[in-house]
Amino acid sequence: MELSGKTFLITGGSSGLGAATAQTFARAGAAVLVADVNPIGAEVARALGDRAAFVATDVTDEAATRGAIDEAIARFGRLDGVVACAGIATAERAVGKDGPQPLAHFARVIGVNLIGTLNVVRLAAARMLERAVALGEDRGVIVCTASVAAFDGQIGQAAYAASKGGVAALVLPLAREFAQHQIRVVGIAPGIFDTPMLAGLPEAARESLGKQTPFPARLGAPAEYAALARHIVENQMLNGEVIRLDGAIRLAPR
Ligand SMILES: NC(=O)c1ccc[n+]([C@@H]2O[C@H](COP(=O)([O-])OP(=O)(O)OC[C@H]3O[C@@H](n4cnc5c(N)ncnc54)[C@H](O)[C@@H]3O)[C@@H](O)[C@H]2O)c1
Repeated sequence: MELSGKTFLITGGSSGLGAATAQTFARAGAAVLVADVNPIGAEVARALGDRAAFVATDVTDEAATRGAIDEAIARFGRLDGVVACAGIATAERAVGKDGPQPLAHFARVIGVNLIGTLNVVRLAAARMLERAVALGEDRGVIVCTASVAAFDGQIGQAAYAASKGGVAALVLPLAREFAQHQIRVVGIAPGIFDTPMLAGLPEAARESLGKQTPFPARLGAPAEYAALARHIVENQMLNGEVIRLDGAIRLAPR
């Protein structure tokens, strides 16, 4: 699929990997609808001109997510894909100093990262089906964001790793299900990327995480994630796979 003239919904597009994807896709000629709980996404969209828009959206909210998809189609005339970047990261042991982790904390991470991703994908795919396409042509491309924590979760990451493991596990069954509709589903499992999600960490910790990456020994740049998302859209043979984008990092237990 060529990006030019297409419309993509980008959840989590207010910040980090999603914002970089919105920029890359818009520069390649796509219209982008930034859907995020953080209203700074309006600035991200404004900077990209009239082929970009922002809708305040909580991906765990069915009506709000439907509204964002409706807006993308009303404004830009079609929906060709989704890059699902909305997510939250937490660190909490299953049994901490104050006792067992509250179940509500675990459920919130699963709710945003896993259920939120499926919510967006199912609602977007349903609307993509409305558009007729020639046999063999992509009707839609869906990129989901897992994490290397899906495979090597660290101490304190049970909730985050489980949510991302769930996202990774969604990819193949969804790709198989949507194959009949000519919609591809691909996952990206980023290593450690330099985004506001990491900004809470002290500089020394950020530097140490970067150095744990074998090569290149640095944090990933959001534009490198966006470049892979773009390639996934453009390369029709990519389907049903979760791609690690991680400089060969394998996370240590802590
Ligand atoms: N940065 C990394 O090192 C890294 C590594 C692996 C995976 N990831 C994943 O990549 C994705 C993007 O992360 P990032 O690093 O760009 O972080 P980020 O915090 O910069 O961006 C995440 C965005 O998601 C939005 N968001 C959170 N909850 C939401 C909700 N319920 N509805 C809508 N939007 C919501 C936030 O407002 C934010 O704009 C996340 O899913 C994250 O788990 C990041």
